[in-house]
This record gives sequence, C-alpha cells and structure tokens, in this order.
Amino acid sequence: MCDLRGHPVINNGINNAFNNAFNKESIQSMNLKKYLDREFESGLRTLGAADAPAVVKQASKPEFGHYQANGVMGAAKKQKSNPRELAQSLLDLIEKSKELTGVAEYEIAGPGFINITLTPAFIQTELDRNAKDPRLGISLETARKILIDYSSPNLAKEMHIGHLRSTAIGDANVRILEFLGHEVVRANHVGDWGAQFGSLLAYLDKLEQAGEELATELKDLEVFYQRASELFKTDEEFADRAREFVVRLQSGDAKCHGLWELFINESIRHCQAIYDLLDISLTPDNVRAESAYNDELAPTIEKLETKGLVEVSDGAKCVFMDEFTGKDDKPLPAIVQKSDGGYPYMATDLAAAQYRGQTLGVDEALYFVDGRQSLHLSQLFAIARAAGFIEKDQVFSHIPFGTILNKEGTPFKTRDGGAVKLADVGVEAIERALQLVSDKNPDLTEENRNHIARVVGIGAIKYAELSKNRTTDYIFDWDTMLSFEGNTAPYLQYAYTRIMSIFRRAGLKAEDINAPFNLTEPAELTLATRLLQYPEAVESVVEDYQANILCNYLFDLSQHFMTFYESCPVLKADDDVRDSRLRLCDLSAKTLQHGLGLLGIQTVDHM
Ligand code: ARG
Repeated sequence: MCDLRGHPVINNGINNAFNNAFNKESIQSMNLKKYLDREFESGLRTLGAADAPAVVKQASKPEFGHYQANGVMGAAKKQKSNPRELAQSLLDLIEKSKELTGVAEYEIAGPGFINITLTPAFIQTELDRNAKDPRLGISLETARKILIDYSSPNLAKEMHIGHLRSTAIGDANVRILEFLGHEVVRANHVGDWGAQFGSLLAYLDKLEQAGEELATELKDLEVFYQRASELFKTDEEFADRAREFVVRLQSGDAKCHGLWELFINESIRHCQAIYDLLDISLTPDNVRAESAYNDELAPTIEKLETKGLVEVSDGAKCVFMDEFTGKDDKPLPAIVQKSDGGYPYMATDLAAAQYRGQTLGVDEALYFVDGRQSLHLSQLFAIARAAGFIEKDQVFSHIPFGTILNKEGTPFKTRDGGAVKLADVGVEAIERALQLVSDKNPDLTEENRNHIARVVGIGAIKYAELSKNRTTDYIFDWDTMLSFEGNTAPYLQYAYTRIMSIFRRAGLKAEDINAPFNLTEPAELTLATRLLQYPEAVESVVEDYQANILCNYLFDLSQHFMTFYESCPVLKADDDVRDSRLRLCDLSAKTLQHGLGLLGIQTVDHM
C-alpha cells in the first residue's frame, strides 16, 4: 500500500466500524473511479480472469450507489463461469482486502453488476484531505513532452470567429495538461508565407511609393487587407505585381523581405491583442511561423525522394500512400512540391513534423485543427512516419472540431456574408455583459462593472465553445451563452459569487475554519461525493481532449451546491454543523474557481 502524498488519514470518529481501515495510510489515487477500477481488476486477476477489464463507472442512477463495476459479466463469459458467483467471489476477496474495506459497501445486482456505495466515513475523510490539498486531490501524471499546435491563424487575414474553437479548446487542454504535470510546448503555427502575401506586399509597396506612412496604414489591418484584395481583383497591373512579389519574396529579395517583416510583425501584434483580450495563454514566444521552416523545405523533400516516396505527376512532386484513395479507389496524391517549384502547405507541415519529432523530440504532438483538414493531417502523419520523421512511440494526432453556425444552421457570417472578426466578438461579448451587469447591480462602481463585464463576457464565449462536444457543429447564440441560467459561464460564475457572499455575510474567512467535516444530510453527502469526483472530471478531459466533460461536471456541481444550500441552512446552524457546512461551501467555491481556471475562465467575488 503506497500513498502518493503520505498524508495520514484523519480519524473522524463517525463510524467506528470503518476506523481501522482509515488508520492505514491513505488510498493510492484520488481518482476514485481509477482507484476502484484498479482494485477490482486486480481482484479479477486473482480469480483467474486476467485481461478482463473491471469497467468501473460512475453509477448511472443514485439507486445504484456511487459507482458500478460492470466487467464481471464479461469476465465470467470468458471464463465460462456463472457471473453472479464470480461477483460473489470478487466481493469475498474485497472483504478481505485491506485496501477496500471501509471505502464502500458493495452489492450484487441483476446478472452480475456490482454496485458500489462509498461510506459516509470514507467520503468525509477523503474530502478533508482534498480540502487541505492545494491540488484538490488531482495527482501529477508521469510527465510527457506534449506539443499542442493550436490557434495557428493565417496572417494574411484578420482572425475570425472560426479561430475561436482551436484557440479556446486548445488553450484549455494546454492548461489542463500542464496542471497534470506534463511539459507542454505551445505551438502557434501561423501561416505567414505563400501566394496570399503577394497582394499585401504589392499594396504596401504602392503605399510606400505614394509616400504614405506605412505604420499608420497598418494600424487598421482589416481595411488594409480589403484594399489589397480589392485591387488584386480589379487591377490587372496590380495583380501582376502581386505575383511578382511572391516570387521576389521566396527568392529572398531584401526589399521585399523588409516589407513582409513589417507586415507580419504588425499582424502578430494584432493576434496577440486578441489573445490578451480573450485571456488565452499564448505569447509571441509561442509563434513558430511557417516561414521558420523555409530553409528546411528543399532538404525535407530530398529526404522523401531518397526514401523513394516521391513520384512526379503532372510536373508536381507527389507522395502516394496506399491508405489514401479517392473516388473509384484511385490513389490520392499529396503534393509536396508544385510544378512551378513552389512548396505547398504539406511541405511546410512535413518540415514542422520533422522538427517536432526529431529536434524537439516530443512524446506527443496534438494538432487542434478544424475537421475539414483531416485528410491533409492524416496524409501528413503517414508520410512523416514513412519518411522516418516520427518514431513509432511518438503519438501524432489530429484533434478536430466542427463548425460554428448561426441560428439558421448555416456558417456564422456577418450580414453581408463576410467573416465575423474575432476581435469584434470579444468586444461585443464584453459590451453585452456590461449591460447585464449594470442591470443586475447598478450600484457597483464603473471600474468594478467593467472588470466584471470582461470576466463574464469573455467567460461566456469561451465556455460556449468548451461546453460542447468539440466534434459537432454548434450554434453561436449570444442570448444562450450570456444567460444566468443553464450550463453557461455566467451561471457558474454567479454560483461562485453566491458562495463568496455567504462568507461575507458571516464576516468569516474560509482559511480560519478548521472544524472537521460533519456530514449527515443526503444533500451534503451528495455534494461531497461530487467534490471528490473533481480529479476524475479533470483527468477524463485529456483522454480525448473533450473539455465539455469538465464543463458538465462544474455545472452539475453547482446544481448540487444549490440543492445543498436550499436544504441545509449554513449560517443559522449550530456551530460545529455551521463550520462543517462552511467548509463544504469553501471547497465548492475552490473547485468551481479552479475548474473554470483550467478552462481559461476567471471568477469575480461579486456581480
Ligand atoms: N494556418 C492553418 C489555417 O488557418 C492552420 C494550421 C494548423 N496547423 C498545422 N500544422 N497545419 O488553416
């Protein structure tokens, strides 16, 4: 029996029958589901059912207790034994196990399910431990080096609402992985190279010729982009110059490079302003742009050629892989060098994959990118593996998203069909939140209201993203996301402020209350159990990078908090009960704040 933290378990004296169990060192892992799963699995192994998963899950209904072990039927089937009998043998074994006595009560149900009900004494002891743990019971995982490619906008355009998904979901996962102890490399693979830059440079050049102050012109990038692309469409001569600039840029022409740098730096400053506005943890240091790989492009393609992976088709260098076929089973090419000698998106990505796999030596590289790029990325990973850029034990995977829609179910656009600028979305969110906060609490100072509006408005748009299954399309709706009811950031932030106000009214500080937990009411025990399940929620997010698991958990937690608060008086209760309940309030607040923090969302003390 080893304990990760070595905290002695506190004997709360509630249920003497279980005290012996608590005198041992504490349980192995605070992820109760994983802990029970491991113990049941080892029981099954002892009973001769090796390789049979115990399938421990949170109970689907309160009548089934807190957890269910559903794996016995499968194990019995493999063993050709009677499932209820196997379940009984497993429970007999568990009765004898020092690890599991005192943790829960067990019951065999139906054809061989085992229902697991945590004992109140266990809940109380573990809750006390979590309450004293700054990590709230979340253990550190074995550290891996994990690169997250996220946000990664193209700099030839202003960031639009489509970038919100990769940016918000990527950032939440980055924060969670870091908290779990991993070495995370944030990779903002911005697109800063290629044909789109021709017209932008030609336009900069034109302005310079006309004696305009370039820095001023670049202040409003959106206007700049529009004028340049307008000219490209309407002015033949300009379009020719634009194409010429692409060639000059790629051949390293100094003048052209200078203009390009001016433009890119301004564009990155714009992105950074948006990250700061949205409270995204990316910094300019995390930018490793496509152009950073320029010198590697030719050698990368040569390596593919040496490996015999390249075929020339219609003058272009292509890689054909058996697993990629198009219509009528024809092999699909991945173009790695165009017939004019230019290098496409795939070439840069191959060079980047090599850098990530070999130079950085990552254990994992996760590409948080729109689902529409899934063919590109699967081809990329397959080619990079075939070329030896990625080793067998390195995990490279695509974490895809659906599309953001409007209420009519079509892609979210401005009224005239243009892309909705991300900066505008952020500003509008804050303005709308300011209106709500001013209506709700007109007495707050202006400074206070502005701060709250920022936290609530930005929280609302990010949470709307994070609370959906990332692979499905979702509808962007201001009213729903800013509502104080339902699974929204404002609801959770408000629940947090209510707890803060309990302490304010009591004139107490949470850290001054040290009374033991004394939980007797069902609503208290239910809330306590949910609080104990926080590590499970956080750890399950990164099993498949679904932040909505944590959102749903926090929403459920605040609902249980409300139920508790409505049925159990806190400040009016007797001293020891009051203090126990205050600790429950405090841990609920801390969990909400911490969970939202992992999602990249802040809290305020009052609204
Ligand atoms: N810049 C690309 C785009 O806006 C996304 C890049 C994603 N990352 C990558 N390594 N391909 O579509």
